[in-house]
Amino acid sequence: ELPRPFTLPLTVPAVAEPTHGTHGTDVYEVTQRRASVEILPGTRTEIWSYDGTFPGPTFRARSGRPVRLRMTNTLPTPTATHLHGGVTPPGSDGYPTDLLHPAGHRADSAHPMRGMAGTHGGTVSEGESATGTRTYTYPLRQRAATLWYHDHRMDFSGPQVWRGLAGFFLVDDDEEDALPLPKGDRDIPLLLCDRSFDADGAFRYPSLDPTLTRTPGVRSGYMDGVLGDVQLVNGRPWPYLEVSAARYRLRLLNAANARRYRLALTTSDGRRLPFVQVGSDQGLLARPQTLHSLTMAPAERYDVVVDLSGCAPDTTVTLVNTLADGAMRDVMRFHVTSRARGRDDSRIPTRLSRPETLRAEQAVATRHFDFRLGSDDMWTVNGHPFDPARTWATPRLGTVERWRLTSDFHHPVHLHLAHFQVLSRAGGAPDAGDRGWKDTVDLRPYEVVEILARFDGYRGRYMLHCHNLEHEDMAMMANFRVV
Ligand code: C2O
Ligand code: CU
Repeated sequence: ELPRPFTLPLTVPAVAEPTHGTHGTDVYEVTQRRASVEILPGTRTEIWSYDGTFPGPTFRARSGRPVRLRMTNTLPTPTATHLHGGVTPPGSDGYPTDLLHPAGHRADSAHPMRGMAGTHGGTVSEGESATGTRTYTYPLRQRAATLWYHDHRMDFSGPQVWRGLAGFFLVDDDEEDALPLPKGDRDIPLLLCDRSFDADGAFRYPSLDPTLTRTPGVRSGYMDGVLGDVQLVNGRPWPYLEVSAARYRLRLLNAANARRYRLALTTSDGRRLPFVQVGSDQGLLARPQTLHSLTMAPAERYDVVVDLSGCAPDTTVTLVNTLADGAMRDVMRFHVTSRARGRDDSRIPTRLSRPETLRAEQAVATRHFDFRLGSDDMWTVNGHPFDPARTWATPRLGTVERWRLTSDFHHPVHLHLAHFQVLSRAGGAPDAGDRGWKDTVDLRPYEVVEILARFDGYRGRYMLHCHNLEHEDMAMMANFRVV
């Protein structure tokens, strides 16, 4: 039933073509729709998709050049699309109750949400209409980075992303273009996630309500999130990729609902190859750093260069997840072919960028956010399940704040809008993997992580939340408002 590992070729999601450009803006039409695709050989899987593929199309954008996504929803349920890592005005940020209903939806038929005193739910927002179409605008006044987009519908992000609503959104800029890093087909986005399948090939997810219309949440036993037993890379189970003996840039994204990865590279001749990290969630590091393993919580990205130039023809290099056992330990494999040795003019410069380093003295406020299990199968922030009417913080536009994050479990904490730097972890220095500008941090059980966040871009309502998608659906979100 399941393919043997490393027998299916890796595919890379197609880059979307703008339908037109107007006044320096690229406009794309995207349809959220059901499609049937082959993921496991010989079976069909129904996906919920952006434009019929999983992952969705990759958007390639330029720093400072706005992108407009004109989204049409033909799925059976409402959606909310979030550009993860985007510096986006509040009306386009994919706030979980700012829904795009499918065409024909009646505004008064708001469906019941988890019992939270009716403070939120299917309210119809501005900009949405009975046609099932709305436009998300991304100004992209931000540096080059590996961003991604995914569904963010209140209470149902977990199952809707699981069904396929996720893809890459890559922002380029002149600074990065000028570097001699591997480019073109040696610059490969890799979306990692796990899924489970029924015998007929359908995605298996333990929703309480598989129609995703009424009852949010997952069956008991999934409080820690939903894990799959098939590892996918770009939607392919345990794929392989033929490569030449050259340097490759890999843009690694953990797009899993709940799985954490500790990635390592092992070669068929018994070596361990390092990763040279060049970028974090939010773009280039100041200098490259060599890491022998990479720990990735859900939603984190690592841009790395892997040097295969020392590999003899027919060497295989396997990307493994050392946090998993059995089949889930394998992720994908690179086959160094004897053909196509290809020229390789790439290099990893010793200086990549000059990102600003935030200092604790810049913080104008200190706040504390505690991520913890609550009662009634709710995950809470500061003791409360999500309440869209409540604002926990009002940072001033343009300022830096020091946020102290504490937890009882693994909670990948993500801030919308604001990018941050990790100031300390567990009372000490940050981990090597915490370097650079980030938007998601791996908060581990009973750990304290301090971040310095800059609230740049726009005023308005934004949120922070746990990016374990089941925790998110179980209310582990909180608002802040930039004033
Ligand atoms: Cu990638 Cu609010 O999420
Ligand atoms: Cu969590």
